[in-house]
Amino acid sequence: MSNQAIVVGVGSGYDNVRSEQREAPAPGPGEITVRLKANSLNFHDYAVVTGLWGGVTEDRIPMADGAGHVEAVGEGVTEFAVGDHVVSTFFPTWLDGEAEVEGFDTVPGDGIDGYARERVTRSAQAFTRAPANYTPAEAATLTTAGLTAWRALMEDGALQPGETVLVQGTGGVSVFALQFAKSCGATVIATSSRDDKLERLRALGADHLINYKQDANWGQTARDLTGGRGVDHVIEVGGPHTLEQSMTAVCVGGHIAVIGVLTGVAGEMSLMPMLAKQIRLQGVLVGNRRQQQDMVRAVEANDIHPVIDKHFPLSELADAFRYQETNQHFGKICLDI
Ligand SMILES: NC(=O)c1ccc[n+]([C@@H]2O[C@H](COP(=O)([O-])OP(=O)(O)OC[C@H]3O[C@@H](n4cnc5c(N)ncnc54)[C@H](OP(=O)(O)O)[C@@H]3O)[C@@H](O)[C@H]2O)c1
Repeated sequence: MSNQAIVVGVGSGYDNVRSEQREAPAPGPGEITVRLKANSLNFHDYAVVTGLWGGVTEDRIPMADGAGHVEAVGEGVTEFAVGDHVVSTFFPTWLDGEAEVEGFDTVPGDGIDGYARERVTRSAQAFTRAPANYTPAEAATLTTAGLTAWRALMEDGALQPGETVLVQGTGGVSVFALQFAKSCGATVIATSSRDDKLERLRALGADHLINYKQDANWGQTARDLTGGRGVDHVIEVGGPHTLEQSMTAVCVGGHIAVIGVLTGVAGEMSLMPMLAKQIRLQGVLVGNRRQQQDMVRAVEANDIHPVIDKHFPLSELADAFRYQETNQHFGKICLDI
């Protein structure tokens, strides 16, 4: 049976991306074989493929997010049957409870082989059911971007109707956060570098819009929009060069979900606002399997669908990342397998 895979060679980089046939063994006890139909791109996958944070040290099949249907079921698997639609989890071993995994060693597409391939045989626990009303590409957006936004707002943030959420930019995590926040009855302040994207955020329900390129003090602007009180939650995807503005935007005792590093991984900032306002800075690394199951039920029940900007075939994985690099996208970019 064909099992075409995309492999990133040692050192990473677009010139090191190749296609090859890989084994697809029959499932052993507790395992399932999944015919993968889609991946979605994340900044993290981009870093693996390009070597942004250091090239891979052994051949690696990239992509953390994979969705498809179950093709074979191993002994003892009762949760899934042949034909079920499933989506991968970011941490195949973190099933429930408090954070227990450090870093990316167990993460598909980084520490272990990921889902840029036609078939995979892996523990059934590395997947959850996909929403019944989702295409495979839609389902593939949930593993990383969806669950990160879900966990930040619904678990760590315990978001309440009437609270205010600030989302930064129009990438996968932020657009999901906007959708989850609105479905929960929150007010959303959304930022973007482009006015046309701000209009799209408005169409998705954003209550207030700020162009962060034109307004360097967007944190104060956001605070002013709340009558001076500040926002309750910030979906912080920028990192060192946006955190200071986020601390300005947030209310006393507010919550900043420290998620992204789009402006780099290191920088200088004053910690005084954090102390003065008793801000809760919560580092986030996606989430666990149980949280993904909760999110799947919620998007199904509320008919929330991800915004997919563009599809590429799996064979054009490098071109898909080149497109992501331009920051033209709004929401998610997907690969069809
Ligand atoms: N910790 C975790 O669990 C976790 C999970 C997923 C992602 N992440 C991280 O979160 C970040 C976003 O991920 P993603 O997959 O959503 O990325 P993405 O889809 O590639 O998002 C890119 C978008 O971010 C916006 N952006 C870029 N620089 C910005 C800045 N200085 N201020 C505000 N917005 C900015 C831009 O929006 P506009 O064009 O509208 O300006 C850009 O289009 C990445 O650093 C990623 O590694 C972390």
